[in-house]
Amino acid sequence: MTTISPSILNCDIADLRGELTKIKAADYAHVDVMDNHFVPNLTWGLPVVEAVVNTGIIPVDAHLMIQNPDLWAPRYAEAGCASVTFHAEAAAAPLRLAKEIRRRGARVGLALNPATAIEPYIDVLGYFDMILCMTVEPGFGGQSFIDEVLPKIARTRSAIKNAGLDISIQVDGGISAKTIEKAADFGADVFVAGSAVFGAEDAAAQVELLRSLASKHTH
Ligand code: DX5
Ligand code: ZN
Repeated sequence: MTTISPSILNCDIADLRGELTKIKAADYAHVDVMDNHFVPNLTWGLPVVEAVVNTGIIPVDAHLMIQNPDLWAPRYAEAGCASVTFHAEAAAAPLRLAKEIRRRGARVGLALNPATAIEPYIDVLGYFDMILCMTVEPGFGGQSFIDEVLPKIARTRSAIKNAGLDISIQVDGGISAKTIEKAADFGADVFVAGSAVFGAEDAAAQVELLRSLASKHTH
């Protein structure tokens, strides 16, 4: 199933409610939490994410680009995020953390930076509901899609298939009408798009365009 999760990173943050309403036909709002340590940028934390959840406009897909997710990620699940994704590079005990997040009723995602391999996680895929293959270095919106990540997406898809599991593969960074089809072809099924959606004249129409392009290629 093709899933579209627009990133609100570069939306009009003075009008979060209005911006969330524009994308309510999407599946999730992708909310990027950055702590200025794991990545060189700072966004918002738990109170703001909780406020977004509490608008009830759209389910929240939290992407935690933070140090010490072992401490913080369960709190995002408790706050009512539908999905909580933490970085493999930051977690001290990723399997324990995955269990803690699920126990609090959220889906759990494992994010891999472009140069982080999937292979160390092949035997533990079952702990996760989603693998996020970053298609840019995390930290900023508006960067170009890194094509070299495509083979990892394909290897992740075949490992999931071989294990007989039902796990989503999310791509995040540089996703637009120009790049979404190749990401889908290689096996992604959850698509984050920030500047493509909020930079478009009609955000809702852009969500539908991305969905229809990806659907033709999702297998
Ligand atoms: C980058 C963030 C992304 C970002 C994507 O670190 O994780 O979610 O908002 O922005 P675009 O779609 O503009 O590359
Ligand atoms: Zn993100």
